[in-house]
Amino acid sequence: MAPVTVLVIGAGGAVGSALIDVLIPDHRAGRLRLVAAARRSESIRALCERGIEVRTLDLDEAEAAGLGAIQQVFDGIDRLFLLTGYDVRMLAQSKAAVDAAMAADVSHLVHVGVSAAPDTTIVHFAWHQLIEAYIERSGLGYTHLHPASFMQNLRLGIEEPGVLTHFVGDARPSWVDVGDIAAVAAAVLSDPAPHDHRSYNLAAEAASLYEIADLFTEITGRPWRYESAEPEVFYERMTAAGADPIYMACVRNVFERTRNGSLTDPPITDDIHHVTGRPATSLRTFLQRASSLGLGSRRSSARAVRPAAAGCGPRTSGR
Ligand SMILES: NC(=O)c1ccc[n+]([C@@H]2O[C@H](COP(=O)([O-])OP(=O)(O)OC[C@H]3O[C@@H](n4cnc5c(N)ncnc54)[C@H](OP(=O)(O)O)[C@@H]3O)[C@@H](O)[C@H]2O)c1
Repeated sequence: MAPVTVLVIGAGGAVGSALIDVLIPDHRAGRLRLVAAARRSESIRALCERGIEVRTLDLDEAEAAGLGAIQQVFDGIDRLFLLTGYDVRMLAQSKAAVDAAMAADVSHLVHVGVSAAPDTTIVHFAWHQLIEAYIERSGLGYTHLHPASFMQNLRLGIEEPGVLTHFVGDARPSWVDVGDIAAVAAAVLSDPAPHDHRSYNLAAEAASLYEIADLFTEITGRPWRYESAEPEVFYERMTAAGADPIYMACVRNVFERTRNGSLTDPPITDDIHHVTGRPATSLRTFLQRASSLGLGSRRSSARAVRPAAAGCGPRTSGR
């Protein structure tokens, strides 16, 4: 029997590339067939170099040219990982992906949303919930992943070694390692049945930025301090770097409301342990790893979107 085919959308992004890392051994062993969808030429090239089939996909093309512009990418796909970027267009992009998945008879879809109260009034959290409602009425099998703040975000707040800038005052947000999100997604995509129609809250622990700076001091043996900045600073920086202002205004609101105490993260669950069979990565472990990889040496910057080159592998599409 042919192995199931898994399509990873957003395969060049933070979560998607971590998911490719987890699934590639299964692909090489013939336990599943992995197909990556990517848009930017750098992502496509990097994925091609890993020896997997890459299909060029820009979900925005469906707006101008109809679903047919993206449909081929979903041909022959059994299971789908759906993630979109930090952009208000996530709504239309996700709907197009779900519609194409339905047309292609995909059997199970794993969607990355966000950890939030069901009655949240945070705008981009609501967008994720509306996308999930659309997935639920699609008839597809589904699993929703609801991650807390990514530990990897901490990199964005390091402009110089020893200073950790963030925007939530003295609040204690919940944190999750992107590798754990990928591990949960991989477990579900490999065997969806026990996870069908389920939602998982993915968070390892809650910690203030003061606690994280102290932990970093202990791990690196050098002094670190937390510098609390206004959410407006975050908004100005991100939009100046080219990020979507509508989405970034939503994030600014999250920071403002986290600071003033009108927004708290949902309680920590043991969902990561339950699905993967191993404990969630702690902040200590994450920072130890990040420290050995040189976290703090350079500030991350927003990436420019360049037109995609032709994909690789036997079947590619997109224009
Ligand atoms: N950061 C957090 O703390 C946090 C917490 C909870 C939930 N989330 C959710 O996590 C998601 C972002 O995850 P991430 O950090 O992995 O994002 P990311 O690194 O920015 O990656 C986004 C991916 O989406 C792809 N993409 C963007 N526009 C596309 C389009 N028009 N067509 C096809 N693909 C497109 C990109 O492809 P290319 O690389 O080819 O451009 C990229 O691979 C968001 O939904 C966010 O709400 C984030």
